[in-house]
Amino acid sequence: MKIAIFGAGVMGRALATGLRNNGAAVDVFFGTRTEESASAVTTETGFSASADPGTVVANADIVVFCLKPHKVLGVFDAIGSAMPSSAIAVSIAAGMSLSKLALHLPEGQPLIRAMPNTPCKIGAGMTVLSGASTATAAHLQTVEQIFSAFGEVLCLDEEHMDAVTGLSASGPAFIFLVIEALTDGGVMAGLPRDVALKLATAATKGAACLVQESGEHPAQLRDAVTTPAGCTISALLRLEDGKLRSVLARGVQEAAESAAKLGKD
Ligand SMILES: NC(=O)c1ccc[n+]([C@@H]2O[C@H](COP(=O)([O-])OP(=O)(O)OC[C@H]3O[C@@H](n4cnc5c(N)ncnc54)[C@H](OP(=O)(O)O)[C@@H]3O)[C@@H](O)[C@H]2O)c1
Repeated sequence: MKIAIFGAGVMGRALATGLRNNGAAVDVFFGTRTEESASAVTTETGFSASADPGTVVANADIVVFCLKPHKVLGVFDAIGSAMPSSAIAVSIAAGMSLSKLALHLPEGQPLIRAMPNTPCKIGAGMTVLSGASTATAAHLQTVEQIFSAFGEVLCLDEEHMDAVTGLSASGPAFIFLVIEALTDGGVMAGLPRDVALKLATAATKGAACLVQESGEHPAQLRDAVTTPAGCTISALLRLEDGKLRSVLARGVQEAAESAAKLGKD
C-alpha cells in the first residue's frame, strides 16, 4: 500500500513515524512545498519526498493532507486529476468541511476527514473519522486500520468535528497546562521540580487510566478519595471557587468555535 502524505510538519511526520514504528506494510511518500524541503525531509526521515504533486500521488492508495487549513484547497487544485480515482483522500485540516473539500476534488473521489491528536506520536492518540458520501464502509475501515497504528479510532458524523477538534485535538495542550500547574503546586509545597513533574505526570496518567479502565464516572472516583474534613475536599472546594471546571469547559468551547471559523476563511 502506498500512502502519500502532503505536509511533512508535526502531524505528517507523526503519522509517518507511527506507521514505521508499528511495522505497517506501507510505503510512505511525502509531498512538500519545495524540492529543497523534499531533500531535507528524505535526509531527516528516510522517507521518499517530492515537491511534484503528480509524482507524490502516482499509484497512491491513500493520500493524507497534513496541511494548514488555508493550504489544503490549493494543493487539491495543484494535484488536479493526477490522483488515482480509487485513492482515498484524507484531510486532517481543522474546520475544513467535507463539502468544501469535495468541491476541489474530482467527482466521486473517496473522501474522509480525520482529526488526530499529538499523543498519536507515541501510539496513545485518539483519531476521529468522518466520511463523505463517496467514502464506503470499506474505505473507512482501511483508514481506520491506518490510524489505529497511533491509538484509538472513532467514527462520528461530521457535525461533531469542530467539537472533536476543541476537545480531542486541542485537549492535550490543556492537560499539559494542568500538569504544569500541578507541578508548580508540588514545588510550592516543597518538592524538587523534577520530582514534582514526575508525580504530577503520574497522577494525571493514572487518573485517566482509572476512569478508562474502571468505567466509573469521574465524580464517583473523586468522591471516593474525599475523606470528611480531609485535605482533598478542602483543595477541591478551592478549585471550584477558582472556577476550574467552567474555565476548562469554556476552553474546549472556545477551541471548537475557533475550529469552526478556520474553515470559513
Ligand atoms: N498539531 C496538532 O495537534 C493537530 C491535531 C489535529 C489536526 N491538526 C491539523 O493538522 C494540520 C497540520 O498541522 P501541523 O501541526 O502538522 O502543521 P505544520 O507543522 O505547520 O505542518 C504543515 C506542513 O505543511 C507544509 N506545506 C505547506 N504548504 C505545502 C504544500 N503546498 N505542499 C506540501 N507541503 C506543504 C509545511 O511546509 P513549509 O514549512 O515548507 O511551508 C509544513 O511542513 C492542520 O490543518 C491542523 O489543523 C493538527
